[in-house]
Amino acid sequence: MELNKPIQWFPGHMAKTRRKLKESLSLVDMVIEVIDARIPLSSRNPELDALATDKPRLLIMNKADMADEAATQRWVAYFQKQGYYVLPADCKTGKGLQKLDGIMNEALAEQREIWQHKGMVGRPIHAMVVGIPNVGKSTFINRLAKSAKAKAEDRPGVTRGNQWFTLPSGAQLLDTPGVLWPKFDDQQAALRLAFTGAIRDQILDCEELACDLVLMLSRHYRSSFIARYKLSEPLPETAWELLEEVGRKRGMLIAGGEVDTARAANMLLDEYRGGKLGRITLEHPDDFRKENAE
Ligand code: G4P
Repeated sequence: MELNKPIQWFPGHMAKTRRKLKESLSLVDMVIEVIDARIPLSSRNPELDALATDKPRLLIMNKADMADEAATQRWVAYFQKQGYYVLPADCKTGKGLQKLDGIMNEALAEQREIWQHKGMVGRPIHAMVVGIPNVGKSTFINRLAKSAKAKAEDRPGVTRGNQWFTLPSGAQLLDTPGVLWPKFDDQQAALRLAFTGAIRDQILDCEELACDLVLMLSRHYRSSFIARYKLSEPLPETAWELLEEVGRKRGMLIAGGEVDTARAANMLLDEYRGGKLGRITLEHPDDFRKENAE
C-alpha cells in the first residue's frame, strides 16, 4: 500500500508527474479519477481539472461502503451538475463497477458517432485512471483485471511504465505511473486526508488530529459516537477532554490514573479508518456551496 511509503511532495516530483500526465492525456479519450467518497473534494488532485479540460471525466466515488449513503447521492448530483459522470463504488467487493462500461459508453457517445462517420467502427475507448494515494486506484484496477481477465501490456513507443489493460468490452485502460499529489496545502483538506489515511500520520500530530476527529464526530455523528464509546451526555466541552473521556472509557490509563491520550488517539484514528464508527462522510456539498457563496 502507498501509505507506508515515504511520499515527498517536492516541486520537482510534481513537475515530473504533471509532464507524464500531459503525455498520457494525449493518448486517451477520457479520464477516470478515483476519489474517496468520504472526502470527495479533498481527495481530488487540485490540477487535474485544468489539465484535462477537453476530455470527458468520470469520477469513481470509491469506498462508498464507508461513506454515508445519502451524502454520496448528494455528491453524485453535485458533480453531475458540473458535467462529470459519476459512479459510486466499492472496489474491494466490486459493487457498482458493473455499471462502468455503460457509463464510459455514455460519456463518449458523441465521440463514437464522430468515429463512426470517419469509418472508425469498433474503435475501442481509451481511458486513463488517476487518483491520489490510498483512494483505492490499485484496488479498482485489480478488481477490473480480475473480473474482466484484463491483460496488462507494455506497449512499445508508449511512455515507459505506462500499463494498459483491456476490458472485455474492448475498452483500454491506462494505469498512469507516478504519484498524484492531493490538496495538501489547504489545512482542512489536509486534516480530512489524514483522517482517511491518505496523508501519513507522521506528518501530523496524532493527538491533535484525534481532537479534530472527536469534535467532528460529536457534532455530525453524535449518537453513533456516544454509543460506540459508551459516553454520556452532556459530553465534555473541549476536544481534549472528549479525547480523554474516550480513552478513559476504553481503560487506557497510565500510572497515576491519567489517560494515555496518544494511545486513545491512535485507537480512534484506526477505528475510524477501519469503518468501525459507521458510515461517515467528512465533507458535504452544502458546506461547499455555503463556502463558495461567501
Ligand atoms: P491506492 O492504489 O490508491 O494507493 O490504494 P489501494 O488500492 O492500495 O487501497 C488503499 C486501501 O483502501 C487498501 O486498504 C484497500 O483495501 C482499501 N480500499 C480500496 N478500495 C476500497 C473500497 O471500495 N472500500 C473499502 N472499504 N476499502 C477499500 P489496506 O488496509 O491498505 O489494505 P488491505 O488491508 O485491504 O489489504
